[in-house]
Amino acid sequence: MCKPTHFEVTYSINPWMQPGKPTDAGIAVAQWERLRSLYLGFGHEVELIDPVPGLPDMVFAANGATVVDGKVLSASFRHSERVPEGPAYLKWFQDRGFPAHESEFVNEGEGDYLVTGERILAGTGFRTDRRSHLEAARVFGREVVTLELVDDRFYHLDTALAVLDDDEVMYYPPAFSAESQAVLLELYPDAILATDADAEVFGLNAVSDGRHVLLAQEATHLTEQLWARGFVPIGVDLSELLKSGGSAKCCTLEIRGATAK
Ligand code: ARG
Repeated sequence: MCKPTHFEVTYSINPWMQPGKPTDAGIAVAQWERLRSLYLGFGHEVELIDPVPGLPDMVFAANGATVVDGKVLSASFRHSERVPEGPAYLKWFQDRGFPAHESEFVNEGEGDYLVTGERILAGTGFRTDRRSHLEAARVFGREVVTLELVDDRFYHLDTALAVLDDDEVMYYPPAFSAESQAVLLELYPDAILATDADAEVFGLNAVSDGRHVLLAQEATHLTEQLWARGFVPIGVDLSELLKSGGSAKCCTLEIRGATAK
């Protein structure tokens, strides 16, 4: 995770970002601290990367890389404002001895790469170049399923779909092309489907450890669905970070080791 010490909205690269609107880094930090303490309370370890002044979106650690089986694929950002984040995150991993593959193509890390038990779901359409999907399949040696995003409010895969368990997901069908909706229906016929209201409060930008699911507290319909499936949903208030188009998952890069999923 990366503390939002320098959080502000100074540019706009998604429809949520309105540079004229006031933001408060103190509130962002308090909301982020609560998320971090929830992880610690569940017994997860939380590593931190130092925030860099002038990179206000660095709080969205999910975009910093993709880590599967202890191997790192570096991120390479679409928009110039975020480009320096790629090397900053790569250096963090290299300094700690992770084998890292420097990406050839634009990809925004776990914003567009979501790892299930057996495959990697990969978003494209707004940020990650679909050629990166082949690179990810090569680097990680896993099947990569390309999913095309079509609604610019849900510009990263992790704003439109969340992995709940090895083979369970929840998603918002209208965020995907008709072809990708058909792929999702075939792979996950029992998936939880989000309503417009769930998606608009970023309820799908959720983090699950297979039991606890941390998600925007406003996503009430998803919360009910999760309880009904035996999960333990935990609502979090990340309203300040939503001003930049992010929520719980965006703030979290999962470091999957050799034995983890
Ligand atoms: N302002 C950031 C951007 O538009 C938000 C990134 C959110 N991260 C995510 N994993 N969806 O790039």
